[in-house]
Amino acid sequence: MMTAVAPADGPIAVTGASGYIGSWIVQDLVEQGYSVRACVRDAGKPDKIDHLLAMNGAGLEGHVELFAADLLKPGSYDEAFKGCSAVIHAGAAVGFNKETPQQVYDGCFTDVRHVVESVQQADTVKRLVFTSSFAAVGHPRPQGYVFTEKDWCGDNVEGYRGAWTEDNISKNRDIAYAMAKANAERMIYGIAEADSRFEAMAILPLHVIGPLMCANHDQTWSWQNCIKQMLQGKPYKNSKGGRMLWNIVDVRDVARAHRLCAESTVARNGSRYILSASDRSGELFTWELQARLKELFPTIANIGGEPMENGQPRQKTYDSPRAYCTLAQQELGPTTYSIDETIKATVDSLMQLGLLPHATQ
Ligand SMILES: NC(=O)c1ccc[n+]([C@@H]2O[C@H](COP(=O)([O-])OP(=O)(O)OC[C@H]3O[C@@H](n4cnc5c(N)ncnc54)[C@H](OP(=O)(O)O)[C@@H]3O)[C@@H](O)[C@H]2O)c1
Repeated sequence: MMTAVAPADGPIAVTGASGYIGSWIVQDLVEQGYSVRACVRDAGKPDKIDHLLAMNGAGLEGHVELFAADLLKPGSYDEAFKGCSAVIHAGAAVGFNKETPQQVYDGCFTDVRHVVESVQQADTVKRLVFTSSFAAVGHPRPQGYVFTEKDWCGDNVEGYRGAWTEDNISKNRDIAYAMAKANAERMIYGIAEADSRFEAMAILPLHVIGPLMCANHDQTWSWQNCIKQMLQGKPYKNSKGGRMLWNIVDVRDVARAHRLCAESTVARNGSRYILSASDRSGELFTWELQARLKELFPTIANIGGEPMENGQPRQKTYDSPRAYCTLAQQELGPTTYSIDETIKATVDSLMQLGLLPHATQ
């Protein structure tokens, strides 16, 4: 079955089109000449849609049309997917910290199931590309272990009892999120296999940063917001002790990988691609990220992050997760942004959007 798509095959629908990753998926598709059905929850909110509509006046080959739809309502995407050659599901009905772990899990399942039902209803969709997460791969392993697409969260439970198991879904949000993404992947591959009219595949991003298109992309739980906090001299807040191994990928490379997946003649039902650093230069401990920010933005006086002592981190960081987007590069094409370009573009966009009022360039 040949299911790879091209602009002449019809429109591509993108769920979560107003979101950080979704917006860049729309931008990339429009640049490549696609007619894009940008699905948003509320088409009446200028702060969420103006940057999408602006793409129509930018002299690009393709164009954007807005469709209002809600992931939690069955049939909500039927209209938007009608006649589409592919669907990219980049929306997620998770409110990040607003729900219980069980609600996070159930929400992901419900939203993916509704999207698949509308894909089947359309009868024209040949590819469904799901924005899963590296969370669907990662699980406790010794320091330095290099994860690949063959890994699934929930592997190696014997080595780490009580961690990534079905029993713990209701007890821990991170486990709920990871298991939801992994099980949603298995569900769509299974449905597509049985259906045979379309193939399903997934993009598994790690720590995504890169330019924000609008102020609404500065959500408090996001990695880009962590960078903003650090540039304001604050500690890195999303992990214990302010320490983390950042495994960074550019949002524009993540977006492009979604399209390349829909267009690929190599990708098959069940193909999954980690989108992470392409080599060790994109893997930075928080203190190394601080140092890069200081070097790239020497006029910003006080850059925060993890506690330092005599120029050295006060405590060692657990060396994980190591992973490289090698398979995506081999099968979809190379990533295009260096770590410094990505960091610089993130900060430049924060400044241009007025989100760093006290920082000077
Ligand atoms: N950012 C990362 O580092 C990262 C890493 C791994 C995986 N991911 C995955 O990538 C996907 C996109 O993440 P993101 O970072 O782009 O987040 P985001 O900016 O918060 O985008 C999420 C999108 O989902 C939409 N949405 C939420 N609830 C909805 C509902 N009930 N019906 C319809 N749409 C709804 C939001 O619309 P509104 O604008 O209306 O709220 C928004 O457009 C998610 O699946 C996430 O799990 C992200």
